[in-house]
Amino acid sequence: MKFNDDSNERNAQLKEYIEGLCCGEDAILKNIKERSREMGMPPIEVPAHIGKFIHLLAKIQKAEHLLEIGTLGGYSTVWLARSLPTGGKLISLEKDPVYVQIARFHLREAGLEERVEIKEGDALQSLAHLHVEKPFDLIFIDADKEHNCKYVEWAITLSRPGALILIDNLIPKGNEIGVASSYEAACVYEFNHYLAHHPRLDLILIPSLVGNKGRMDSLGLILVK
Ligand code: SAH
Ligand code: DHB
Ligand code: MG
Repeated sequence: MKFNDDSNERNAQLKEYIEGLCCGEDAILKNIKERSREMGMPPIEVPAHIGKFIHLLAKIQKAEHLLEIGTLGGYSTVWLARSLPTGGKLISLEKDPVYVQIARFHLREAGLEERVEIKEGDALQSLAHLHVEKPFDLIFIDADKEHNCKYVEWAITLSRPGALILIDNLIPKGNEIGVASSYEAACVYEFNHYLAHHPRLDLILIPSLVGNKGRMDSLGLILVK
């Protein structure tokens, strides 16, 4: 049986249930989303259950040195930065100068400005110029999908064995799962195949539920060997 990607009411209920139960957003996180809409930014933050999930993963990892590629208004940045111990640091890369200003404002409001540095500019440029003393413990990739391959190679270079690489949006929109019905979908499935067979990476795709219809997407969770 074929399903349309937003045909399943139960997915929406599941998302609402999980997020109502254990992914409560405080006023700071709610505000970031609200203000981002007011400022005309696209509604493409990670869902709250993925925010909570990456927050817990960073805590379990005892990550002190985090990298994020794709900041938008700083929503996922706040989830991640709140996992850091005293002295921990997060670097987030964002190319849009207006988004950078808004995200910096949100991080100040969240009291996280000491722990987070947002670097403005094209992520590939920023990555090539990053001077890191310590390898990253966790890297979250959520920017322009056509550069995902390059971001993963940088993530391997800048991390250590045992590091986690997390990648958002590994199931494309609007098609039968696993079937490449568009060029974009073909790219995502090819990328997943590349990740699954990469000698340095151990991959699992975690299903995620996006938007108020609970469209099925996926977060890639990768252990660097
Ligand atoms: N992680 C955010 C959502 C990021 S949306 C959250 O969950 O809250 C993707 C972001 O990547 C957008 O803000 C976009 O401007 C940024 N982006 C796209 N291409 C980029 C590039 N080449 N370099 C840096 N940032 C980029
Ligand atoms: C969309 C969602 C995302 O999580 C993202 O990073 C980029 C785009 C979208 O729904 O269009
Ligand atoms: Mg995303």
